[in-house]
Amino acid sequence: MSVVYDTIGSGYGRTRRADPRLARRVRDALGPSASVVNVGAGVGAYEPRDRDVTAVEPSLRMLEQRSTDAAPAVRAFAESLPFADDAFDAGLATLTLHHWADLESGLRELRRVVRERVVILTWDPDHAGFWLTQDYFPDLLAHDASVFPSLDTIEDGLGPTEVSVVPIAHDCIDGFLGAYWRRPAMYVDPRVRAGMSTFSRLTDVEPRALRLAEDLVDGTWDERHGHLREQAEIDVGYRLLTCTVSSPRLCLP
Ligand SMILES: C[S@@+](CC[C@H](N)C(=O)[O-])C[C@H]1O[C@@H](n2cnc3c(N)ncnc32)[C@H](O)[C@@H]1O
Repeated sequence: MSVVYDTIGSGYGRTRRADPRLARRVRDALGPSASVVNVGAGVGAYEPRDRDVTAVEPSLRMLEQRSTDAAPAVRAFAESLPFADDAFDAGLATLTLHHWADLESGLRELRRVVRERVVILTWDPDHAGFWLTQDYFPDLLAHDASVFPSLDTIEDGLGPTEVSVVPIAHDCIDGFLGAYWRRPAMYVDPRVRAGMSTFSRLTDVEPRALRLAEDLVDGTWDERHGHLREQAEIDVGYRLLTCTVSSPRLCLP
């Protein structure tokens, strides 16, 4: 399997780090689970420090950006997890499912190695996007809608899941695509865009970023979207899914 993040992941650690509000949501969703496997772990965002975490990450480039005090990491793919059945209390996968080559196998594996619950942070491809993807990069919206699995597909793979909206705060510090909905100038900076994998799939990015820069200077952006400057947080499509695993073993007398 190819490892895309060995090519696009070099600047990841610069712009991507856990936002504390999202981290709290993830921690709460993990409940009392003491051991957690974090699949597609990247540099370790959203790995709770108060649990026994094992990270799984296929990209060497990402593994080498993990801090020295991050959880131990295993180089492996979601589709073939090198762990025994029921090895962990919980499984975690944040903003990674859309990269897996075989989602069905990955979800089956995740389900196989956990005893209690699976927590997933992802983006809902049925969401309409926001001004960046609607006005400037509709091809990005189309691309993401084609690669992010639908929430139904995830549920088919895992079993019944609880879905909750994850609004994104105006000062979110994790530089994923929707993070800067109220800080439009950030998207003009190529170093910021480098932390957003979908931009690497597009052509003609720079001219459109320049158009955004011009719209910011001449007031066009504010005319259309200035009302957002009054909002503290909005829904740009991120969702937290929690699947409580009912292992048949646990049901035995
Ligand atoms: C956008 S990053 C997210 C990293 C981290 N979970 C976070 O929230 O910051 C996606 C990660 O998924 C990893 N990935 C891609 N394909 C994978 C696969 N088949 N199995 C496991 N991880 C994979 C990438 O190498 C990358 O580190």
